[in-house]
Amino acid sequence: METLLQYTKRFFSEHQNFLLNNYPGITVRRILQELEYYFTFGYESFDHFLNSIYLEDYYNPVTIFFKKLEQGIPLAYISNYRQFCSSDFYINRDVLIPRSETELLVEMSIKELKRIEKNNFNNSNSNSTSTPDSLKIIDVGTGSGCIVISILEHYYPIDAQATDISANAIEMAKRNYYLLNFKINPQNKLKFYQNDRLFGLDSEEKFHLIVSNPPYIKKNADVKNVHTQVRLHEPELALYIDDEKYEEWYTLFFKQVDQHLLADGVFLLEGHEYHIPTLYNMVKKMISNSALHFKECTIIKDLTQKDRFLKFIK
Ligand SMILES: C[S@@+](CC[C@H](N)C(=O)[O-])C[C@H]1O[C@@H](n2cnc3c(N)ncnc32)[C@H](O)[C@@H]1O
Repeated sequence: METLLQYTKRFFSEHQNFLLNNYPGITVRRILQELEYYFTFGYESFDHFLNSIYLEDYYNPVTIFFKKLEQGIPLAYISNYRQFCSSDFYINRDVLIPRSETELLVEMSIKELKRIEKNNFNNSNSNSTSTPDSLKIIDVGTGSGCIVISILEHYYPIDAQATDISANAIEMAKRNYYLLNFKINPQNKLKFYQNDRLFGLDSEEKFHLIVSNPPYIKKNADVKNVHTQVRLHEPELALYIDDEKYEEWYTLFFKQVDQHLLADGVFLLEGHEYHIPTLYNMVKKMISNSALHFKECTIIKDLTQKDRFLKFIK
């Protein structure tokens, strides 16, 4: 008879190659950590299970957990959580698993909100429908809601919107907003809408910050570089754009951003390291043709020095 700890160690040594291929860097400790979350989100005290005798039939949830590991299902979809910017987000297969590089998007957003507030407090926003001192922001393609909710946890007062084309993603983001509401200043507001990019907004509606981590993988050209676990388990809608529609999709999005950004407002976009320079050149060209009206457009690298973000200032 084995304890759960002994069982986990044996499982790890028996499946080591498979586990390391599917879960890079995984350790026994990490599996136990995920198991703890798995229990936190649905079952009894983890400590009780850790030191008790492991009985496969009786502790059914444990069996299910290890069966899912054997299938290579991403850990966040097994334990139904992922930590992002110091909060635990509820995750399921309707939404992308939040990535660590996206935390930089939150950091940059907060920095830009501080700058905008300093430069514009009390003098822009005369056309705004929000309370005069609130900064208006929108997160496009919100998924689990990790970006907008993390911004709201760290800054106020903000009048925020979050949109996604997927109704299930919107439900997940609402759930996270509800779960994490205790960390958010009550002066902040957040509304959710199911929309394609910025369609559906009133043409006069404008924002200080538009932030987005939209799908950015070309369905055919880039698929060979997508990790099998991502390809098999994460939602297509969150990942891919058809190769032949890629440029058109972004051109339209950038025009919408141009229309809905306040003067001195900022747009922060996460993208694919191969395509960010192409999008940058496209925007520069559109600015020089007066098809877009941004005064600044910059490429920003992630922590691994890959071209990861675009920043436009209106
Ligand atoms: C890369 S995921 C990002 C999710 C989340 N913001 C994050 O950073 O983890 C892209 C999200 O955009 C949504 N999406 C895809 N096409 C969209 C569109 N045309 N308009 C709005 N959202 C879209 C997907 O449903 C998905 O939730």
